[in-house]
Amino acid sequence: CDQCGECLYQKPPKESGYDCQWFYKCMRCAFLTIRMVDRGGLYRRYPTDLPCLVAAIRCGWANRSRRYAIQVFPSLCAFVCIRNVGIGKAVAETVSEQGFKPKHILVTGGCGFIGANFVRYVARNHPDVHITVLDKLTYAGNPANIDGLPRSQVELVIGDICDASLLERIVPGCDAIVHFAAESHNDNSIFDPEPFIRTNVEGTMRLLEAARKYDVRFHHISTDEVYGDLALDDPCKFTESTPYKPSSPYSASKAASDQLVRAWVRTYGLRATISNCSNNYGPYQHVEKFIPRQITSIMEGARPKLYGTGENVRDWIHTEDHSSAVWEILTRGRIGETYLIGADGEMSNIAVMRMILRLMGCAEDSFDWVRDRPGHDRRYAIDSSKLRTELGWKPVHTDFEAGLQATIAWYIDNRAWWEPAKAATEARYRAQGQ
Ligand code: NAD
Ligand code: TYD
Repeated sequence: CDQCGECLYQKPPKESGYDCQWFYKCMRCAFLTIRMVDRGGLYRRYPTDLPCLVAAIRCGWANRSRRYAIQVFPSLCAFVCIRNVGIGKAVAETVSEQGFKPKHILVTGGCGFIGANFVRYVARNHPDVHITVLDKLTYAGNPANIDGLPRSQVELVIGDICDASLLERIVPGCDAIVHFAAESHNDNSIFDPEPFIRTNVEGTMRLLEAARKYDVRFHHISTDEVYGDLALDDPCKFTESTPYKPSSPYSASKAASDQLVRAWVRTYGLRATISNCSNNYGPYQHVEKFIPRQITSIMEGARPKLYGTGENVRDWIHTEDHSSAVWEILTRGRIGETYLIGADGEMSNIAVMRMILRLMGCAEDSFDWVRDRPGHDRRYAIDSSKLRTELGWKPVHTDFEAGLQATIAWYIDNRAWWEPAKAATEARYRAQGQ
């Protein structure tokens, strides 16, 4: 086997009409090898190529959206293995045009802010897809976030992504993992980095191992913060080729998890994609984060808090637009690729603060300046043209003020949802001088 080095070939089933001269699978690591005929040294698409791959798909060994190692039979019979490039890519991409149609997805962190919005998005738009949510229900997870969804479609498993034996039970049978679970708050990571390394790094590795073992498609949710920050006056934005330069323990742990995904794609042929998204806003966001913190403080009659100079810029996207982008990448994205998700929503923190105050009927200067975050990233900005041109995705919520108004209305209507977490969150901030 070109993958694991074990010589444990499994022959294709008789019904496929092929024998192992054309394709075979490793019994140890399930790696599929497809051989093709290369006459005269130059590759041309012969009728044997595609039917062979289609036969492998029919017998359940290959998947439409995956790239495989393709061995070329050169005239002189020296086998050459081409991995993820050249012929393999050309053939597999021909087959992937029809897209990946998952029937059962495992959503990690599906009781958190973005994960729950994604579960709701899939339940609403794809009622034929079964969803298993795996969530540890940390302080940031709330089962109420997925309340009201049909039980026949959405099931909740309470557990830790680091628990390999639990993953052994729930990963088989899923055809995709969409991995949102994480420790997600920068300020917490500065105070105590350890849970960030455990969940974001070790947890991602456990999921990758389970996905590899059971040959499950993997989509990894990440953040633009892996790229560090931009100067306020820099005309550039982050692109897929911006070098990684994380600033906080949170962003460093997410950067590490992204690199693990890339290693699993390259080394084990895992069918994985990565998306790095900008700052999300919308319903179900925990009150520790900037926008909900200010809205709920104003509702309680307290003064909102702005870090440092307030000049830092974030690139806001409505969480529903994040969900639609993830679905497009999961079903039509190219394996091994990274896509940046953003909605051209750059705005300084002070401008967002003033907008919240105005929309809530308060004077725009009725906030407090507080201690800055150590290592505070200055500006994030996403260039999402790859996602837009390749997959035709575009955001729907392009009016930030309207989105913010709707988000404020959601927090006003759902006081019982956020109130239990508010006092403890503010006590933590107070202790940090924020
Ligand atoms: P969140 O903190 O609201 O939710 C995280 C969820 O993961 C919670 O339900 C929590 O219980 C669960 N969880 C944590 N540790 C777990 C573990 N060990 N096992 C199982 N479940 C666990 O986070 P969020 O804001 O919804 O972010 C979701 C993902 O999106 C994260 O990967 C984050 O890095 C990424 N992201 C967030 C933003 C943003 O603006 N919030 C932007 C870009 C990317
Ligand atoms: P946050 O929502 O924590 O997201 P991130 O750190 O991932 O960007 O913070 C958004 C911005 O708002 C960030 O620049 C820090 C700032 N901020 C405040 O000014 N005041 C606050 O109370 C909070 C929580 C954040």
